[in-house]
Amino acid sequence: MYTLIDQITKVVSEGFAQCGYEADVKISLSNRPDLCEYQCNGAMAIAKAYHKAPFIIADEVVAKISENPVFEEIVSVKPGFINIKVSKQALADQVTAMKEDEKFGYRNSEDAKTVIVDYGGANAAKPLHVGHLRSAVIGESIKRIQKYAGNKVIGDVHLGDWGLQMGLIIEELRDRKPELVYFDESYQGEYPSEAPFTISELEEIYPVASKKSKEDAAFMERAHQATLKLQSGDKACRAIWNHIMDVSKKDLKRNYDNLNVSFELWKGESDAQPYIDTMVEDMIEKGIAHESEGAVVVDIAEESDNKEYPPCLVRKSDGAALYATSDLATLVEREKDYNPDRYIYTADKRQELHFIQVFRTARKANIVNSDAELKFLGFGTMNGKDGHPFKTRDGGVMRLQVLIEDIRKAVYDRIVENRSMSEDEAQETARIVGLAALKYGDLSNQASKDYIFDLDAFSSFEGNTGPYILYTVVRIKSILNRYLEESDAAKIEDLKINAVDNASMKALELSLIKYADVIQSAYKEYAPHKICQYIYEVSNAFNGFYHSTKILAETDPEKKKSYIALITLTRDILLASLDLLGIECPERM
Ligand code: ARG
Repeated sequence: MYTLIDQITKVVSEGFAQCGYEADVKISLSNRPDLCEYQCNGAMAIAKAYHKAPFIIADEVVAKISENPVFEEIVSVKPGFINIKVSKQALADQVTAMKEDEKFGYRNSEDAKTVIVDYGGANAAKPLHVGHLRSAVIGESIKRIQKYAGNKVIGDVHLGDWGLQMGLIIEELRDRKPELVYFDESYQGEYPSEAPFTISELEEIYPVASKKSKEDAAFMERAHQATLKLQSGDKACRAIWNHIMDVSKKDLKRNYDNLNVSFELWKGESDAQPYIDTMVEDMIEKGIAHESEGAVVVDIAEESDNKEYPPCLVRKSDGAALYATSDLATLVEREKDYNPDRYIYTADKRQELHFIQVFRTARKANIVNSDAELKFLGFGTMNGKDGHPFKTRDGGVMRLQVLIEDIRKAVYDRIVENRSMSEDEAQETARIVGLAALKYGDLSNQASKDYIFDLDAFSSFEGNTGPYILYTVVRIKSILNRYLEESDAAKIEDLKINAVDNASMKALELSLIKYADVIQSAYKEYAPHKICQYIYEVSNAFNGFYHSTKILAETDPEKKKSYIALITLTRDILLASLDLLGIECPERM
């Protein structure tokens, strides 16, 4: 299915050709919506080549095509622009066609790709904090957009499960429960299958151990040794590690479920360990990596760089695993298992240097196919109202669970103010709407920017917020339900949209028809915020239409059916867009 811009482009291009001009015609949305809806600067671009004043060319072209039914009005304006208003019928045909198309006219222009989205990035045994929220929320949306475009997409949580936190926990556990068999050097038997701690104990152990390590150098040294022992396969350390992972993963799954975020793969840094030695040896052998002060590094600086990029450290002198090494070895594993065409990583933008080092090393060492894309999507910090990284009231790191609960409560209070639903429904609605507030508040900002988390603003039912968008959808759902109750349920799916009969209807249709282009640019630019902008515009346009048009009270049955068809399309487009953002919608609010 063609978009309206495609159709107009075709007609105008033919116009240029019929007048004897070779032009690469581009139709864009008008930046003067008061004058026209679309515009074309083609005459300006070719005037020089044809030694003619641009308005003469524009005049000729307009004269050739002005009768085409796609235009309500097409005029040439000095110095040579072509201003276009689309005809009511063309618009009606377009929205009706969108209504009949599963993806409302959206088609991805490239072949299906295999894509790995590395997001979430939680660290086992450490509590999920708001820093991980952005990765999960943005990554989930990116993944959905990639899938919608027809790609085969695999999301991997890529847990941080192989670092110093493990050694810290092991040693803290030793201090607390020295009698455990794991600490008995002479123990030969099987280790217990039951973990020696619960999730709440585990969550409490890590911060204590981390604090202790900063004050107690000997403890820190023990933790380092324990980490090294774990990494070199010590059975007792491995047994404790297994317990930590079991307990921690269960908890993480619950947390991600609460966010409505799910992963195809639950792999972690530890899964890449078996690939490290061969990979590093291979890099040394090829002369890509070299020794430097006992460590092994890869130079990644390039001539065109305008700042200094330090070498990528792939092996430390004590042999401990490194963040970059583990990401490189993960690439080795992913190439073997999936041979992806594209990798997308969502992580804090302060990790940019790390990803530059990893990507350049991977290219240099031919770890990935030369045509594979490696994309780092770095996001900014979520700040509190004071402009500093978001904290709890007492200054601690904000836990994700607490944050979700806070926003759910704020929404719940608003819902019960004028509530007409049962307690259960109010609770469930508050959960859905609260999550929408949180996710939309995040996704509506360009990912790379820092943003201010403002609970009151995010949970407001007015303005550019998740609840406002949901409220709009719920309003449409309620009109449609009433329509179905009163009419003999003529199939809404089959209703056609007639030519517009008022200005707000036209405005709504002009917003709706941008869908395919918006999704395409959100896809190409990895930019969920473009979808937010779009659904905000559509919601405003719908509410404008709603306030100026009698829908259910319309007495002309043909008009009424057409309105119902149009708002059905509006609902479906909003729901599809919300789904791409990973946002659910309730039945009522
Ligand atoms: N676990 C890391 C952190 O908490 C994020 C992981 C990002 N992904 C990656 N492949 N390095 O900072």
